[in-house]
Amino acid sequence: MDLRTECARSLARILELPVADIENMLEIPPQSEMGDLAMPCFSLARSLQKAPQKIASDLASELQAKIPMVREIKALGPYLNFFFDRAAYAEAFFREEQPGHFFAHQDEGQGTTIIVEYSSPNIAKPFHVGHAFSTCLGEAISRIYTYLGYKVVRLNHLGDYGTQFGKLIVAWKRWGQREALEEDAIKELTRVYVKFHQEVENEPGLDDEARQAFKNLEEKKPEELKLWQDFRDLSLKKFSVIYDRMGISFDNYNGESFYSDKIPAVVEELKQKGLLEESQGAQVVRLDEFNLNPCLILKSDGTTIYASRDIAAIFYRDKTWNFSKNIYVVGSEQKNHFKQVFAVLERMGFEKAHDCVHVAFGRLSIAGGEDFSTRKGKVILLEDLLDQSVAKVRSIMAQNNPEMSEQELDEAAEIVGIAAVKHAYLRNGREKNIIFSWDEMLDFEGDTAPYMLYTYARSRSILRKAAVSAADLCQANSRLLITEDEFTLIKDMAAMEDAVLAAAKAYEPCILTRQINLACRDFNKFYHNISILKAENPELREARLALCSRFSEVLSLALGLLGLKTVERM
Ligand code: ARG
Repeated sequence: MDLRTECARSLARILELPVADIENMLEIPPQSEMGDLAMPCFSLARSLQKAPQKIASDLASELQAKIPMVREIKALGPYLNFFFDRAAYAEAFFREEQPGHFFAHQDEGQGTTIIVEYSSPNIAKPFHVGHAFSTCLGEAISRIYTYLGYKVVRLNHLGDYGTQFGKLIVAWKRWGQREALEEDAIKELTRVYVKFHQEVENEPGLDDEARQAFKNLEEKKPEELKLWQDFRDLSLKKFSVIYDRMGISFDNYNGESFYSDKIPAVVEELKQKGLLEESQGAQVVRLDEFNLNPCLILKSDGTTIYASRDIAAIFYRDKTWNFSKNIYVVGSEQKNHFKQVFAVLERMGFEKAHDCVHVAFGRLSIAGGEDFSTRKGKVILLEDLLDQSVAKVRSIMAQNNPEMSEQELDEAAEIVGIAAVKHAYLRNGREKNIIFSWDEMLDFEGDTAPYMLYTYARSRSILRKAAVSAADLCQANSRLLITEDEFTLIKDMAAMEDAVLAAAKAYEPCILTRQINLACRDFNKFYHNISILKAENPELREARLALCSRFSEVLSLALGLLGLKTVERM
């Protein structure tokens, strides 16, 4: 539904400017008395050689020729303000935004492949709340792009390689216990890994042993390879439980190890292009022209490192999927790493270097401020976080709904509790640091998942009480929805489309989260201020129920794009 474009078109004709430029100038006024759309005229003053006030009033009189669905056009100081015809607007919204077909632009991504790499936990280490950030953010971004018609390839670039595996192998051989490993691989591997770091202080020789073990692994010696494979399989099994619980799956789990034998070809190419230089025994690519430190490609002992695996992975991804964008959802602390990797690609003349994007995010702490380093064995596990959230939600819901069966409580609490955690990652700009607080996350009145899901359940409950379905309401007269509250809610829903597009463009699901929250606030206002089931007459009742029904459809679709499921009652 593009009233904005309509208004921009009419203005463009008079001003002889591109429609897109005008569209960018149009804004939504802070108060509804100022209209539904406004154009500030300041920036036109110079080219038109007129005061902004005069421009606004001249445009207002010139535009009197009608724009469909616009009831009035007024100059208010330096602003030109458009007032929509509410009945026509409501009618157009219901006609154009059909269920299953909400928001245009669903074919935006036709024929375009986007890689989203996210989650990427490290084998043999706990799945902590930092990886959960990448997981929730990456999932939302993947869903949003999929909705817009892109072919999305979801990659989990497991941290399954590197010198730390040498340490792990040595530690396991010394202190590991098989039964404990089978029972909870990550717990047992973390235990021996932590022990390694304690023991190495007294026995520095352990480090050399670990280096040798990693070298053996790189050379695929059977003992090391077998152990590593076990560690990987058992860890992945554990991670899968969490992914299933969160409703997340990947197309591919090629981890860092997968790329290790593809590095010699990269090294060869770098050599041929004269980009590889020796520095203190190691091989590096200089990146002075980018104002970056040299990127380390091969260590002095010939072993490969993190960055070289990433470079090899990009070539592989391009060959395999011919991506138009290759997105990395990885914490801000790796900004420099990705800058280096992309810069090396640019020096190699790789054309898609600029289509590789690091989507960074901030740090997370729990009110109280622990750190998340696995070295000291002190981490907050996602599993624990989810369990706690579900338990807390369950007890609140049990209190609010004494009539709910145990089973219904269990099922609903699982959905709402997980949604609360996911939402906490998606509510603010991603680069902002997050401080988790249960009170904030589980506030049924706050900017939270429970609030949104509660609002959804409320809209569904009205429809249940009225005993109508969406199909029963398709003849409703939407032209009757003209009160301030109804009109505002319809505008919120219409604006969801822009929010989806903007969220995709900036890789910021929070833009959508905010729009959803706004729509929920306005739905609740509508619910409180307007009689729905007891409307003045049956026609109005039907129209308001249609609005409820449409709202619940738009809301569940939008929540789904964030990866949140809904419940019918809570
Ligand atoms: N496994 C890494 C970590 O936990 C994240 C991997 C990021 N992705 C990449 N292609 N380098 O820090």
